[in-house]
Parts: sequence; structure tokens; C-alpha cells
Amino acid sequence: MKQIMTEKNQNSGHGDRVYITTYGCQMNDHDTERMYSLLEMNKYLQATSPEEADVIIINSCSVREKPVHKVMSEVGTYRPLKEKNPKLKIGIGGCVGQQEGKKLLSQTKLLDFVFGTDTIDQLPQIISEVRVDKKRAAWTKVGHRDAYQIQTLVRNPKVSAFVTITKGCDNFCSFCVVPFTRGREKSRLLSELIKDVQSLVERGVKEVTLLGQNVNSYKSPDGNGGFTDLLRAVCEETNIERVRFTTSHPKDFDEDLISVLVKYQNKLGHFVHLPVQSGSTRILELMNRGYTREEYIHKAKRLKEELPEVAFSTDIIVGFPGETDEDFDMTLSMLEEIGYENVYGFKYSPRPFTKALKFTEQVAESVKEERLAKLIELQDRLGFDFCKRYDGKIFPILVEGPSRTNKEVLTGRTTHNKVINFEGPSSLIGKTIDVRVLKAQPFSLRGEVV
Ligand code: SAH
Ligand code: SF4
Ligand code: F3S
Repeated sequence: MKQIMTEKNQNSGHGDRVYITTYGCQMNDHDTERMYSLLEMNKYLQATSPEEADVIIINSCSVREKPVHKVMSEVGTYRPLKEKNPKLKIGIGGCVGQQEGKKLLSQTKLLDFVFGTDTIDQLPQIISEVRVDKKRAAWTKVGHRDAYQIQTLVRNPKVSAFVTITKGCDNFCSFCVVPFTRGREKSRLLSELIKDVQSLVERGVKEVTLLGQNVNSYKSPDGNGGFTDLLRAVCEETNIERVRFTTSHPKDFDEDLISVLVKYQNKLGHFVHLPVQSGSTRILELMNRGYTREEYIHKAKRLKEELPEVAFSTDIIVGFPGETDEDFDMTLSMLEEIGYENVYGFKYSPRPFTKALKFTEQVAESVKEERLAKLIELQDRLGFDFCKRYDGKIFPILVEGPSRTNKEVLTGRTTHNKVINFEGPSSLIGKTIDVRVLKAQPFSLRGEVV
């Protein structure tokens, strides 16, 4: 008991303030909330700006372009703050932290600590060691053998919350660094997840987004079910109103998932993010994606047959090593063939440890830029026509809160995951109401409460 008390006191922030900047995917957003929660439990407070912070953390992402350079230049901007307040401690966490480890410490004296994606729960202790023992170190060990059992930590749950169902990734797409920064794939117990979602419901949450690098390879470690079993259980055994998930991998997208999406469409909505990456089977093979162009189209069409309302979004990489004009044209034709609501296009960026890093036929930067511009131009045109189908329609909208850009306006998403903004009293937040679309634009809809 005494030991625990001492440890607790040591890790305590005594009201000191922490500021965290976040890059990357929803997993990182979720991790940042976990960091704040753990630190608040240890008597730290959230700072509203770096200027008032005693600890600054950069929760970094390494998925694309010059990530190390980006975090290092951010650390550099804090130099004047450190000169003013020598007690200020600066740390780098997230995927760059995991990837680079203690190398980062040798690059600048301004940096005090580095931690990885598997040591987040030790953060209060790490900060305490840095502050009390005045030591600079990197904590990036990965617990390969540890079971993955964490409860969602969120301080003030809003209408919508993230719940991680798996961490890591075993797919090793040849362009992707994530398997190296997040480690091997591990799933949480299905029974724990159900309890977790229900306890969020009891705290007022109406919608959860189930998170994983590849959600449809989820497998409860006790053998009690896969992703579709999890979706069924979340829909049937909890009182959650809406369930979203990201990211589903095309190779694991199957008929069972289609039938669950149809059966529980009231909760699951009419939207799937299905990253295609390329429309050329030859490139998909080099990417190690595990499906062909035809298989992807077949799966998307099967879902559309069963759920005609469904909307898709996707990720595309242009300029993957060896991508020819013909390969790229096949990617462009995917946009017409599937009809995506949103397309997130990226220029291929060579990543450490990955297989594609060693591919010799790298595509010139200018060609990547040209292709990305073409992709965006085509999608802008298609997306504009596509969103017109929403004009005048009425949708049940779960009101999420005030809109990001205009606090006077409320915001929510249609079951197709389309953002819709409308006027109304804040008492509507958390309720599901009918909203009519007044104006449909590619990125958001403007509506009125019916
Ligand atoms: N697990 C998700 C993707 C996570 S990374 C999935 O499999 O879909 C998010 C997106 O970043 C990817 O879909 C891909 O389009 C893009 N991306 C990943 N590595 C990249 C790289 N080296 N260069 C450019 N884009 C990349
Ligand atoms: Fe990366 Fe592929 Fe895993 Fe997605 S599925 S995280 S792209 S390796
Ligand atoms: Fe980036 Fe790591 Fe997410 S590399 S995209 S923060 S998993």
C-alpha cells in the first residue's frame, strides 16, 4: 500500500499543465484523449496553448512525407518557451516516436523524452522520471506477449466516441509503415468490448466508431467471434444508437459483412470506407494488397445490390513505384466505376522498413503531382454530381454539436457519413431529428430541421 501511495505521489502532476499536438489518423486522436485522461487521473491539467504548458507532447504520425523533419521543426518552435521556462519538458510520442526511438534525442537538446505507441499507459510514470530524475530517455518497448486489454478512457464523453477494437497490423502492404510503428495485430476481447460500449452509453454516448487498421480481421482472443459477430453483438446487446467503423480492408470484406450491414442498417448506416489504393491489378499485387481490381469491384457491387443506398469513400496512392500512365488511367476509371462520395488521394512516399522502399522504378515527383491533380479534378467533378442526389431529401440526423466553423450552427452526419449543418437550439444535441437538405455540396450539406 505504502509503495503504491509513493508511486502515485511521484507520478502526480500537482496541477501542472500538459499540451498535446496531434497528427495522423483517428487512432492517434483517440490516443491523445487517452494520454490526457491518464494524466488528469494523475493531477495534470490540460493546457489550452503551448505557452502555458509545463509539458508539451507531440503525438506524431509517420505514414507520409518527411514526418521526422516535421516533428523536429515543431520542437524547434518551442525553443523560446524553454528559454523562458527551463522546467518545461518536451516529448515526442506516436508513430515517429516508435519508429525513431532514442535517435530523436540525439538530434536536439530541446527534446526531453520519446515514447512509443505501446507505452502510452506508462506516460505519467515516464513524465515523472523525466522531471524527478532529470533523465532524458526513450521508452519504445513493445509488449509483444502482453494481452490487449484496455478500457476506453475519455474524460467528457460527447455524442460520439471512438473505441479501439484492434491495434497493430499484420498486412504489410509494401508501401506502409504502420505494421512497424504499431506492431503486430491484437484484438480486444469481444465481451470486454460490449461492456466498454455499454458503459459509454451509460455516460451519454449515442454513437461509437470502432477503430482498427483493419477492422474486419478482428478476432476475439478467446475464440468467441470475429468482426461480424462483434457488430451483431454491439447492435443487439448494447443500447448504442449508431455504430461506425474504420478501416475495413477490401480483401477481408465478405458476404457475411454485407448481410450484417443490411440487417443492422438502422444502426450501421449506409457508408463504408474501403481503401482501394490503385485500380490496376498489377500495382495492387506490387502493393501486396491481396485483391484484384475485379474482386474489389465485385465486392462493392454486391454491397450496392444489397444496400442500394450505400456510399463509399476510398484512399488512393498515386505514383507508386512502377505505376505507368496506363495503371494510373485504371485508377481514374475506378472513380467512375464505383462512384465514391469522397476520395482521399496521396502521393506515394517511400517509408523506412517497407518493401517498396527498395523498388527501383520510383516515379518522378512532378509525375506524382500531375497525377494527384488529375485525380482531384476528376473526383471534384464526379463528387459534385453525386451529391446532388441528396437535394431536398430528409434524413434522420444525430445532432453531434455546434459546427466547427460556426458555433451558431449545429452539425451532424447523414447515415452516408455526409456532414450536414443546420440551425437549431443546442438542446437538440444528442437527439436524432429529421433534417431536410437545402443545398448539397461535395463536402457538406446545408439543411433545415423539419
Ligand atoms: N489501415 C488503413 C490505412 C492506414 S494509412 C488501410 O489499410 O486502409 C491511411 C492511408 O494512407 C492509406 O490508405 C494509404 O492510402 C495512405 N498511405 C499509407 N502509406 C503511404 C505511403 N507510403 N505513401 C503515401 N500514402 C500512404
Ligand atoms: Fe498499412 Fe496495409 Fe495495414 Fe492498412 S492494411 S495499416 S495500409 S499495412
Ligand atoms: Fe500515422 Fe500511425 Fe496513424 S503512422 S496514420 S498515426 S497509425
